[in-house]
Order: sequence, then C-alpha cells, then structure tokens
Amino acid sequence: MNDFVRIVEVGPRDGLQNEKQLIATADKIELIDRLSATGLRSIEATSFVSPKWVPQLADAAEVFAGIHKKPGVSYPVLVPNEQGYERALAVGATEVAVFTAASEQFNRTNTNAGIDESLQRFEPILARANRDGVRVRGYVSTVLGCPYQGEVPLADVVRVATRLHAMGCYEISLGDTIGVGTPHKARAMLQAVAAEVPMAALAVHFHDTYGQALANIATCLDEGVRVVDAAVAGTGGCPYARGASGNVASEDVVYMLHGMGMSTGVDLPALAATGNWLAERLGRQTGSKTGKALTVS
Ligand code: HMG
Ligand code: MG
Repeated sequence: MNDFVRIVEVGPRDGLQNEKQLIATADKIELIDRLSATGLRSIEATSFVSPKWVPQLADAAEVFAGIHKKPGVSYPVLVPNEQGYERALAVGATEVAVFTAASEQFNRTNTNAGIDESLQRFEPILARANRDGVRVRGYVSTVLGCPYQGEVPLADVVRVATRLHAMGCYEISLGDTIGVGTPHKARAMLQAVAAEVPMAALAVHFHDTYGQALANIATCLDEGVRVVDAAVAGTGGCPYARGASGNVASEDVVYMLHGMGMSTGVDLPALAATGNWLAERLGRQTGSKTGKALTVS
C-alpha cells in the first residue's frame, strides 16, 4: 500500500481564525513561509470569509499577496461564497476550499445558510473554478457529532460528501469539528463515505478536544486514507462550534507517521521549531507534545 501521506497544514487558517488577539499580518506571512520551508506540500493560507464574521482573517488579501510561494506547494484558501471566490481570484489563488456541514444547525450558525443552500452557493464557484483552472477542495464539518444536534447520521455525511464530489471538488475533507469522535466511529464514518467517493479523494480532519485525534487518524490510515489535515502547534478551532478546541498538531501527526514507516516529505525538527516559534508569538505553550519533546532548553 502507498505509504506517502500528504499533510494539509491548516494552521494559518483553522489554527488562527479563532485567536482573539489580532495577529500581525507580518507574523502570519512569516508563519506560512516557515511552513513552506519544512517540506509541506499543502498549506491552507487564509480565508476569504466575511471579515465581520472572522475579524482575525480580515487581512487575507495582504497575507496571500505577501507569502513567498514555493514551487510545488499549493496554498488553498477558504471561500464561503462567490464574493469570497472573487477576492481569492483577485490575489491569484489557484486553489480554494468550500465548506459546509453534515448537520443543519451548525451550518446555519457558521454560514447563515442551510446545507442545501450552501451547496447551491458552491455550484457557480465550481463552474467558474473549472473555467479558471482553479482547484476546489470541499469540507464537510460535524461528521462525527454536532454541537447543536448531537449525533449525526452517517447517511447525512455520505450525502453531503457525495454531492461535493459530484460537483467537482477534487478532494473532500471529513471534519470532526468538535473533536468528539472515537476510532471505531471514525472508521465506520470513513467506510460509509468511501463506499460512494473514492478513498483517494478523501481526507480526514480531526480536532483533539477529547485527545482522540491521533487514534482516529491511525484507524483511518488503516482504512486507506492518505491525506490528513493538521495544524502546527495544535492551534485552532471553529469560532461557531461551541466547545471545539485545537486541531490535531501537525508535529504529532508527522512523528506518528514517520514512526509507522510512512513518509510525508516533512522535516520534523523544522516543523517543530516552527510550531514552537508560533506558540511563542501567541504567548503560550505549544499544543504539540512532539513540539515540547523536541524543544532544546
Ligand atoms: P451573511 O451575513 O449572511 O452574508 O454571511 P451576506 O451575503 O448577507 O452579506 C452581508 C455582508 O457581508 C455584506 O456586506 C457582504 O458584502 C459581506 P455589507 O453590504 O453588509 O457591507 N460579505 C463578504 N465580505 C467579504 N468576503 C466575503 C463576503 N460575503 C459576504 N466572502 C457568510 C454569510 C457565509 C459570508 C458568513 O457567514 C461567513 O463569512 N461565514 C464564515 C464563518 C467561518 O469562517 N467559519 C470558520 C470556517 S469553517 C471551519 O472552521 C470548519 C473546518 O475547519 C472543517 C471542520 O473543522 O469541520 C473547515
Ligand atoms: Mg477545522
């Protein structure tokens, strides 16, 4: 079985979007440039959502324009609607990510639209992206639980993932937004989606609220998934998901994968140094155990 795992580094977007203190644009740019130097192939740079909803990322255009784009690295950006797509296109983005959820109330709280309405918003984005040569990734949130409705039926996850794939998203990221999943549930969810969407087009996106993220990822790797979202220093969480804490830390994922004999192309000491640098900028300890262990004091 293929042992290369692509890490989609979501720290600059999912990691920072929930930070209360505004982070300097120059620091965001430096973070992405440091990440680019570690060997990561996909770095989600920012999001072109409404600045009223997510003030932290209001400088998306400046950040995207300011980063040094390393050949061979893709820098997707989140877009919620056509207005976001236009803003992303204006600064030269070549990959965007659209996002919806498997549970209705979460999606309304996050985007002021129901699931089907949000899927309709994506149709023109996909059509334009196809003409513009822009790649589109799709996120499904709340795949293992919703802060409002609780349990989420697998059929709802499968329906939304299948729609995004049929619409033309090249990859679907399955998000445990509030980090409530456990390994057997994660396996069942992935198996259900993979029955309809090819495994090669699936990614997993775990938050570590209950400390289950690495166990969930290991289980999904056994099922054959080869794309894993993670955030350096374990930052983040969705501002519209009550109780959600950080993403699984990229350093911890890379440490685990290398220990399992899998390859990522990522220089772990350089990644850990970047996570520790970010934690220092944010004025707190890193959320990565590997980052802590590799800190030379
Ligand atoms: P709305 O208020 O319904 O928007 O928000 P609207 O279309 O009615 O427009 C209202 C105003 O917003 C207008 O300005 C628009 O121009 C402006 P006004 O006329 O009042 O001055 N506007 C925009 N401005 C800039 N860029 C835009 C944009 N769109 C409208 N793109 C909207 C609807 C979707 C825009 C809003 O709800 C929104 O931005 N939501 C994003 C929330 C968000 O970013 N959440 C976190 C990301 S998702 C996540 O973290 C989960 C994930 O990590 C996976 C997982 O963990 O599960 C991906
Ligand atoms: Mg997330």
